[in-house]
Amino acid sequence: MVRVNACIHENLKSDIMMIPAIGHYIVNSGGKRFRPLLCLLAAHLFGYQGDRHIPLSVVVEFIHTASLLHDDVVDSSDQRRGAPSANGVWGNQASVLVGDYLFSRAFQMMVADGDMVMLKLMSDVTNALAEGEVLQLSRTFHLEMTEAECLEVIERKTAVLFKAAAEVGAYAAGQDEKIVAQMAEYGMCLGVAFQLMDDALDYMAETETAGKPVGHDLEEGKITLPLIHAMQGDAELQQRVEDIAERGAYVDDDERDWVRERVAAEQGSEHAMGRARDYAERAKKLLPQHGDTAIRDLLAEMADFSARRPY
Ligand code: IPE
Ligand code: IPE
Ligand code: MG
Ligand code: MG
Repeated sequence: MVRVNACIHENLKSDIMMIPAIGHYIVNSGGKRFRPLLCLLAAHLFGYQGDRHIPLSVVVEFIHTASLLHDDVVDSSDQRRGAPSANGVWGNQASVLVGDYLFSRAFQMMVADGDMVMLKLMSDVTNALAEGEVLQLSRTFHLEMTEAECLEVIERKTAVLFKAAAEVGAYAAGQDEKIVAQMAEYGMCLGVAFQLMDDALDYMAETETAGKPVGHDLEEGKITLPLIHAMQGDAELQQRVEDIAERGAYVDDDERDWVRERVAAEQGSEHAMGRARDYAERAKKLLPQHGDTAIRDLLAEMADFSARRPY
């Protein structure tokens, strides 16, 4: 991970000063670096001794970081990683453009890696991620959202990148197609768990621990699993959510607290966390039996963390 961080900084260099300024701001404000770690571990599971996994894990983190820069503009979010979001400091235009820079830098890095299979895999995933965000937008305040529709958004907007991280690691380590596909599926299940947990945290965490605004999914029109579950058991909550949608999503602090209390009373977050744990269990079962046992234990812990993380 030390080498990953060095590679991140190396690739933020540009003579257009605003690019390293915003780039360093967002990467230095922290972030769990969960995806690059997953990529490294997936390579080390199979005893990989080369260097390709370092820039490739940075590719994954850059795509993630670019998507966060864009996401905070789309979601009008003013906090990220416990600090004011880049759009809060430099404005929306700068965030969108530096996000574009990071996406394109990621693609330059893949071309430098020079493997058409890798390029196809990563470009398909980046495209799916963009589709996922648009799909979610098109389902803004879609109150009839089912659990299956919810999972479709989650797989596309979030889980695909976790899939890519694990898949790329195994592929770089020279595993055969079957094992690479198994690791991809592990990453996908882990990624679903990760986003379900994120959706649970939006209704149960505090901003200080999350490092980003909580209780805002509803105002963004995101009908997530904790809310879907709670609305099924609480007609008054369902009615209130319809009212909020009709009045254009304005929610004051009291109403936000009220909704959070009702979702808590219906155990909405617990329901989503239960589903997250199911996905984490599925992920663990997909880990291949050969390879380094200590690394496999860590990969199993990564899956557990996704479904139990406090931030
Ligand atoms: C945030 O991802 C966006 C989601 C997909 C939930 P992370 O929780 O990995 O964000 P950082 O990188 O640690 O800030
Ligand atoms: C995260 O989505 C960004 C992507 C998956 C592209 P969200 O909007 O759900 O996550 P946070 O809460 O802002 O991190
Ligand atoms: Mg967001
Ligand atoms: Mg979003």
